[in-house]
Amino acid sequence: MRAPRVVLALVLAAALGSVRGDVRRLRDQAPPGLRPHSVTITEFGAVGDGNTLNTVAFQNAVFYVRSFADKGGAQLYVPKGRWLTGSFNLTSHLTLYLEKGAVIIGAKDSSQWPIVEPLPSYGQGLDLPGPRHHSLINGYNLTDVVITGNNGVIDGQGSVWWDLLRSHELNYSRPHLVEFLYSEEIVISNLTFLNSPAWSIHPVYCSDVKVHNVTIQTSLDAPLTAGIVPDSCSKVCIEDSTISVSHEAISLKSGWDKYGISFGRSTSDIHISRVDLQSSSGAALAFGSEMSGGISDIHANHLRIHDSYKGISFKTSPGRGGYIKVVVISDVQMDDVHVGIEFTGNCSTHPDDHFDPSELPVISQITLQNMVGTNISVAGVLSGIDSDPFTAICLSNVNFSMSDSAPSSSWSCSNVSGYSKTVFPEPCTELCDPSSSSSICFSLSSYSALAVA
Ligand SMILES: *[C@@H]1O[C@H](CO)[C@@H](O)[C@H](O)[C@H]1NC(C)=O
Ligand SMILES: *[C@@H]1O[C@H](CO)[C@@H](O)[C@H](O)[C@H]1NC(C)=O
Ligand SMILES: *[C@@H]1O[C@H](CO)[C@@H](O)[C@H](O)[C@H]1NC(C)=O
Ligand SMILES: *[C@@H]1O[C@H](CO)[C@@H](O)[C@H](O)[C@H]1NC(C)=O
Ligand SMILES: *[C@@H]1O[C@H](CO)[C@@H](O)[C@H](O)[C@H]1NC(C)=O
Repeated sequence: MRAPRVVLALVLAAALGSVRGDVRRLRDQAPPGLRPHSVTITEFGAVGDGNTLNTVAFQNAVFYVRSFADKGGAQLYVPKGRWLTGSFNLTSHLTLYLEKGAVIIGAKDSSQWPIVEPLPSYGQGLDLPGPRHHSLINGYNLTDVVITGNNGVIDGQGSVWWDLLRSHELNYSRPHLVEFLYSEEIVISNLTFLNSPAWSIHPVYCSDVKVHNVTIQTSLDAPLTAGIVPDSCSKVCIEDSTISVSHEAISLKSGWDKYGISFGRSTSDIHISRVDLQSSSGAALAFGSEMSGGISDIHANHLRIHDSYKGISFKTSPGRGGYIKVVVISDVQMDDVHVGIEFTGNCSTHPDDHFDPSELPVISQITLQNMVGTNISVAGVLSGIDSDPFTAICLSNVNFSMSDSAPSSSWSCSNVSGYSKTVFPEPCTELCDPSSSSSICFSLSSYSALAVA
């Protein structure tokens, strides 16, 4: 392990709090940034040759940057190169900046991804009971963190993990690429995220998160990879991004069964706009199925969804409790999608057998409007739960042109009710409830005035 003296000196200096003069001013550095101070990862012994393991360099650099917390924070600059690393943690008031040509690469060796506790709102890992691997880049209890750059890349080398999952050789649940817990004022922008072992960007128990101008890709035949997963978060904004993954491009969640119910933290006030989404085996935009803390006040507009198994999907199950309500999705272009719209109350995966089937979810006040589809095989499959129907579903101005192989009945509905206006193909009778009216439909402009019961 390389540990140049300068690093030891810097870390020692930081620990002693005598840091002035050791750090160049940002304005003398090439990259523009928001912080008054900047350090470069090479100052901490990192080598960008794609082979040298730089985990300790990243950890030491972040430790050093902590000393600038009360001085406006600092930028950690990652120059062009291939920077192999295991998991590391971020700190508050940090900007991680990846220059053009900079690639942070996740180590293939699973021992570089330590084991951490499962999330309290899930009770276990995603893939397996018990603890899980720590993500590549982590934030815990932070404020004011920016991960950005000039289209640098963060590559998780996920195929190692996908193979372990496929062959049932995982010992612990897969890690994500970037995860923030209990954090606020997070910005992630101007970067590309490749081949996450599981999810690419996972803010959980966070607020004020902005994801802007990112590209996210995983291999389309990877098992269960997701793009951005706001999970028990409020005030999240996702804009101007392109996501192409195997399972769910954007997925809104809030905890699993009794763990999510007792943790009780909802996902709310989420804005999604101008995104291009592809999901080869799941839904481009998904809600749930883990939604036990509740999901509400979601605005998504100007979505392009293409070459996907499902377009927009709302998923839940008896045992979840919670709710998905007050959702407005508008201005959607959908091309080459198997199932355009799905509502299902039958996602029967549970963290254990002790779920309470009488904990029934509420799915209500969901408006889908101004949607155009081409080459759609099935317009919609809407299946609520027996004795727990999904209500106040509004479809307005939806025009799907069906693929040649489409079945004659393009919609199938059960245990749902709602209203539809100007929908082609003709929707099922459950969405033509004579007792409901357009008043159940929200629009973006009238939305805030209409906190409809
Ligand atoms: C990173 O943070 C986790 C808690 O989120 C902690 O357990 C771990 O020790 C930290 N690692 C380092 C290297 O600081
Ligand atoms: C979270 O951060 C706050 C202030 O930054 C600190 O007071 C608190 O101890 C931290 N909590 C944990 C669990 O680290
Ligand atoms: C998006 O990020 C790239 C670098 O990754 C940058 O060149 C481009 O200007 C950004 N676009 C916007 C609209 O911010
Ligand atoms: C899983 O555990 C076994 C037994 O301890 C070990 O041989 C194997 O390397 C572990 N696999 C991973 C991916 O860590
Ligand atoms: C992303 O890139 C755009 C265009 O270069 C720039 O205006 C914006 O400030 C960048 N975002 C961040 C957080 O650096």
